[in-house]
Amino acid sequence: MFSRMSPSITNMIRMDHTHVVAAFHQYQVDTPPRVKKGLADNICLALEVHAQLEEEIFYPALREVSPDEFTEKAQPEHDRMRELIAQLRALQSTDPAFDNTLFELMQAVLHHVADEETQLLPKAERLLSGQLSEMGAHMTRRRMQLVGPRTGELAGGMARAMSTGTVLAAAGALAAAGGLLLASRSHPNARGRWVNPAKWGH
Ligand SMILES: [Fe+2]
Ligand SMILES: [Fe+2]
Repeated sequence: MFSRMSPSITNMIRMDHTHVVAAFHQYQVDTPPRVKKGLADNICLALEVHAQLEEEIFYPALREVSPDEFTEKAQPEHDRMRELIAQLRALQSTDPAFDNTLFELMQAVLHHVADEETQLLPKAERLLSGQLSEMGAHMTRRRMQLVGPRTGELAGGMARAMSTGTVLAAAGALAAAGGLLLASRSHPNARGRWVNPAKWGH
């Protein structure tokens, strides 16, 4: 029942991408360091959870029906992203290298997201159309498991990012990272949009 009502995994993936990019758009060179740190923390956490979900659920299913080059290229791109996340976490947000590392990370992410959205997701929608909703439900369950132990981290990043009013970006990154609170209080509708956004209180 829940599976049938779940948004497709491909729309969930698009939604995660949108939230990360929206948080990134709030990050500018003159953003206060404390807010930069909050935004970066939330972006990194969102990316880690998203990459793991794709690797566990989405890529293997696609690889089975289409064992081509692209899914082989996607994994090294995730690995590169994780390296940049580790570099970013080792820096202070007051360090000029912090901006450059974040921008390098987002350059890699935007490139990767463009390939996924123009090649991988349409391919999945052609080849796996009957399974996408069930896979979406699986992704939601797994997301809750992954984000549950990290809610403190998420809240810390949120608090910093919110301190000067970048609430929407923080909320976007939070949703991308977890969807945990949303998933526990409301259901995504069939178009992949989360119902009841007023729960965010903003
Ligand atoms: Fe990916
Ligand atoms: Fe992705």
